[in-house]
Amino acid sequence: DSIDAAFTAKGKIYFGNTGDEGTLAQGQTQEILNANFGQITPENSMKWATIEPSPGEFNWAGADFIADYATTNGKILRCHTLLWHSQLPDYVSSITNKAELKRAIKKHIRAVAGRYAGKCYAWDVVNEIFNDDGSFRDSVFYRVLGEDFVKVAFNAAKKADPEAKLYINDYSLDNLNWAEPKVTAMASNVKKWIAAGIPIDGIGSQAHLAAGGASGVGAALSALADSGVSEVAITELDIAGAAPADYEAAVQGCLDVEKCVGVTVWGVTDAQSWRSEDSPVLFDANYAPKPAYTALLDMLNGS
Ligand code: G3I
Repeated sequence: DSIDAAFTAKGKIYFGNTGDEGTLAQGQTQEILNANFGQITPENSMKWATIEPSPGEFNWAGADFIADYATTNGKILRCHTLLWHSQLPDYVSSITNKAELKRAIKKHIRAVAGRYAGKCYAWDVVNEIFNDDGSFRDSVFYRVLGEDFVKVAFNAAKKADPEAKLYINDYSLDNLNWAEPKVTAMASNVKKWIAAGIPIDGIGSQAHLAAGGASGVGAALSALADSGVSEVAITELDIAGAAPADYEAAVQGCLDVEKCVGVTVWGVTDAQSWRSEDSPVLFDANYAPKPAYTALLDMLNGS
């Protein structure tokens, strides 16, 4: 059985991974994805700077590649990400006028979410908008529009792709001890925004973890779920050292929370990971499964 099959047999929707055309062309990456994972998130190809590098000029090839890969291979597609302070072109980050920024956001989202409408199980509509102390990050979006940018983005995404689950995604949402201010800010703001009619369906916890840092994942997911969203997910899992016990704890955290629909690992092989020096994922640079892979499969299969 694949990890995806074993995980979905427990009532979850997917166990996935990330990739783009470049990484999928390497070695046995596609074979591994095809055989083990049920969902894919484009790692970089749907980000603003990649997909709309200058206003109204779109670079669809990389994103189309992943969308087609998902369709052809029967994988669930999580789309990532419409609004992020990073990988944002200068023509956006230099806008100072409210109406102009709202217009740019709406046009971008209409074009990008519109192109993949009906294909994305979920969209990470806004990404990394909070600081670790729970305050809003100082991005062009917050500076110019205040927290209204959240409403503008979610409403535009809903209009462009009414079927997709619309997510707010962030890191350091993994533990109620050290990350409590951020978890609380996320949950209370989302609760407030949902009450105000903003169409937020889910909260994504990226889960880029340190070794030994996975024990609080379930409790934190549960606090996020209490905001009133219909679902939560682990969206970018990687763990320094990839100790089997750490992966088991993180994945168990999703199993323990009813609203948690899926887990996405952030990278197929250690060599492809953005944290490659930490060897944080499930396959090594030679495409061989690591102990954490076997441990997860055993855990999910109940042996
Ligand atoms: O495509 C260019 C290539 O043309 C150029 O030669 C090369 C030289 O540096 O850079 C290539 O772009 C890089 C891109 O990855 C594709 O490999 C960028 O420099 C590099 O910054 C980019 O890093 C990505 C990072 O987000 C920033 O966008 C990582 O792959 C990706 O794993 C990482 O993912 C993020 C999530 O989207 C959000 N959460 C955090 C997570 C980790 O940072």
